[in-house]
Amino acid sequence: MAVLVACTVFPGAGSPANAGDPAQGERVFQYCYSCHSVMPGETNLQGPNLAGIIGRPIAAQNDFAYSPAMRDLAARERVWSESLLDRFTAQPEAVAPMTSMQFHGVDDPAERADLIAYLRAIPRP
Ligand code: HEC
Repeated sequence: MAVLVACTVFPGAGSPANAGDPAQGERVFQYCYSCHSVMPGETNLQGPNLAGIIGRPIAAQNDFAYSPAMRDLAARERVWSESLLDRFTAQPEAVAPMTSMQFHGVDDPAERADLIAYLRAIPRP
């Protein structure tokens, strides 16, 4: 019987070394859930909905008033790759200076890898 090993490559400097654990990542998402929902269609929070965020164009929720900082990031990077999301969740201000996301960042690379694994598991609506 073949054993399938899921292996995700995170390109770029400072990327997490492991592919992350979605169950742990659900816990890490507690940093985010006061401002973000992953339930499709739930858009009444302070931040945009994050269902299917990986691979989604940046600043793409139609009814959300993104900051100029986030629109600027969208012009430069276009899509939420895993490596961009890793850098943004580590230091939002460093990736999108003057972003309206009031969040200091997740310091631990392993926590970020888990968080990204969790978000990867939530399909685009
Ligand atoms: C205090 C509220 C708050 C917290 C906590 C927060 N965010 Fe945000 N987030 C926002 C706001 C507001 C924006 C819009 C930023 C802008 O337009 O500059 C945003 C934007 C984003 C975006 C861009 C989405 C898009 O549509 O392009 C991502 C990705 C994101 N946040 C992920 C996270 C993650 C992951 C966490 C937890 C680790 C988190 N955020 C924590 C408020 C928050």
